[in-house]
Amino acid sequence: MINLNIKYKELIEKLDDLTLIKPDIAIILGSGLGDFAKSLNIKNSISTSTLSNYPASTIPGHEGKIISGEYSGKNILLFQGRIHFYEGYKLNECVLPVFISKKLGAEKILLTNAAGGINPNFHPGDLMLTTSFNGISIKKELLEVTGLPSAESKNNLIDLPSKEINQIIRKSADKEKIKIVEGVYWYTKGPSYETPAEIQMIKNFGGDAVGMSTVHEALFASFLGLQTGSISCITNYAAGISNKKLDHSEVTETANLVKDKFERLVKRVINLI
Ligand code: HPA
Repeated sequence: MINLNIKYKELIEKLDDLTLIKPDIAIILGSGLGDFAKSLNIKNSISTSTLSNYPASTIPGHEGKIISGEYSGKNILLFQGRIHFYEGYKLNECVLPVFISKKLGAEKILLTNAAGGINPNFHPGDLMLTTSFNGISIKKELLEVTGLPSAESKNNLIDLPSKEINQIIRKSADKEKIKIVEGVYWYTKGPSYETPAEIQMIKNFGGDAVGMSTVHEALFASFLGLQTGSISCITNYAAGISNKKLDHSEVTETANLVKDKFERLVKRVINLI
């Protein structure tokens, strides 16, 4: 079993110097949502390629930067880009941003992502508040590879996502007059998009949106005791919901179209947190 404290000791020490102040919230930015960093007062920024042991970012739209910034009097630890399982990394590498957040003292984390819409009421460009995650396919594996003591890993997941953070997201959307839909985010391992039959199955089991990230981060954050919230940008209709062929450029293009709305929402969340 991997001991993350040992594996990432040097990296955490370097990042401790970067942030200095305890973050009020950590935020992981999903595909095409990285521009949000520009709206913060950036105090310090580091390219993850300069950190020993940090998995290289291989996906367009994931910059690979860790930023310490400020907005509305709050200290923010921002991950511009994330690490995906389908890039070939191990789950203990994929959850590194969450581990770093915990080590640098964050008690809250907001996960954001691009996702395919399954719920017939969802359309590309909608923002979705996650009401629950489905990570049944990875839970055991996640616990095995991250070496969490069993007491932590048996924490119950009833407050995932955090009710308090979800209320703040709802209130923020309301104040900004942004329509936000709500639903269950379902994880698939990728790397390819799903087949229509897979989407039909997820739909039958209550999934509203599908994506290839976030759930391992959310579970791990919760195991570490972080209050966790998640916002998805619905970038496309999931396979078979529309017959359009899917590709990553559609995902980043739609994310780009909603970035102002997304930015307003997340800024308000920071303000109210
Ligand atoms: N499926 C999986 N992941 C995704 C999708 C999708 O349709 N859209 C954005 N990320």
